Amino acid sequence: MKAYRAAILRFAPDREPSQSAVFEQDGLLVVGPDARGQQVVQAAGPYAAVKDQYPGVPVQHLPGRVIAPGFIDLHVHYPQTDVIGSPAQGLLPWLQNYTFPEEKRFSAPDYCAQAATFFIAQLLRNGVTTALCFATSHPASVNALFGEAQARGLRLITGKCLQDRHCPDGVRDDTEQSLIDTLALIQRWHGQARLGYAITPRFAPSCSPAQLRGAGELAARFPDVWIQSHVAENLDEIRWARELFSASRSYLATYADFGLLRKRAIYAHCIHLDDADRALMRASTAAAAVCPTSNLFLGSGFFDFAGADRMGMNYALASDVGAGTSFSPFHTMLAAYYTGREGQTKPGVSLSPQALWWQHTAGAARALGLEGVVGNLQLGCEADFVVLNPQATDLLARRTARAASLDELLFALIVLGDDRVIEKAVISQAF
Ligand code: GUN
Ligand code: ZN
Repeated sequence: MKAYRAAILRFAPDREPSQSAVFEQDGLLVVGPDARGQQVVQAAGPYAAVKDQYPGVPVQHLPGRVIAPGFIDLHVHYPQTDVIGSPAQGLLPWLQNYTFPEEKRFSAPDYCAQAATFFIAQLLRNGVTTALCFATSHPASVNALFGEAQARGLRLITGKCLQDRHCPDGVRDDTEQSLIDTLALIQRWHGQARLGYAITPRFAPSCSPAQLRGAGELAARFPDVWIQSHVAENLDEIRWARELFSASRSYLATYADFGLLRKRAIYAHCIHLDDADRALMRASTAAAAVCPTSNLFLGSGFFDFAGADRMGMNYALASDVGAGTSFSPFHTMLAAYYTGREGQTKPGVSLSPQALWWQHTAGAARALGLEGVVGNLQLGCEADFVVLNPQATDLLARRTARAASLDELLFALIVLGDDRVIEKAVISQAF
């Protein structure tokens, strides 16, 4: 067992997200192995109250620091690390001109391995300890990322992209082989250590009906495997998806019609939905990955937070690197704040700092069906956490010294923070 003395931020599971933060100014976090041998939170609370319950447990004192749950990135593409900042008129030319050419390179296992190593280092330096991640259509890209995550003990979910049409040679897969590969990858990786598999149709326009049908059959056969895809991001994309799948009520309904809308399904963007779509999301308990830096960069539009809340639809935050412009959860939360006035009933109102932070931690865990497992520091949660330094820069030190409330402190970190605030990301060890 080991203990850390610092300020501690966590979230009360039974409270409304914007009021759910629990903050101990002088806290003690005690971690130790559970029955599986995975390091979990054994106690968290005021230092004075908790310390005597754990005599002899070594305490690391971190004065002036804040311990918080590791961030969760609900949608990110590891093969797109090197296309960040590639300007385009919109999603479809961006895919053609930058993304597919880069993803072609992942046919080479060596290329995958170095990209996976760099990517996971970027996650950790930005305080991201769990990710739901796209690989490419090459099984080698999946093996490389799982291998690296396993070596570092990270909780990570990924899958081979399914894309058997409307994409170039070198990234296009074969319908039957793609489903055989998906099955083999599920059997090899899903549930190994902290790894999970996601069935990954890139988006409906890149998949034949036969491929989507096969993906849906696998989703039914493996109900605790995740599903990830894209939907309703861009108006040209939507028009195209509607032409290709005109029998479905909407673009989102296309996925439902193939059995791909269910618990543990995460759909990136969900910008241009109507209320019938939102009701479908709610009924299926699927969740949206909201990607505000990506949506600003590609000019895709704004996620309607108020509409999602009104219809009771699940959502949480994501970077969407490389259309997204940053690995930093602080940058993503700030972009969500900038764009969060969309659809609000009260003029000028956007998201609160506690709600933003929750959406990148406990809320993202809930979207993944991993509530109580990661994304929080309640008892029994796996001990993935970040040590934050609110004095990381001169400006942060000056501004956070003035913070008169928790909301002011969180806001200052969201607005001024980046990877410099993350002093350390601690990953739960397995014994
Ligand atoms: N839609 C289909 N593929 C992609 C992708 O790689 N990035 C984004 N942002 N949208 C997509
Ligand atoms: Zn994406």
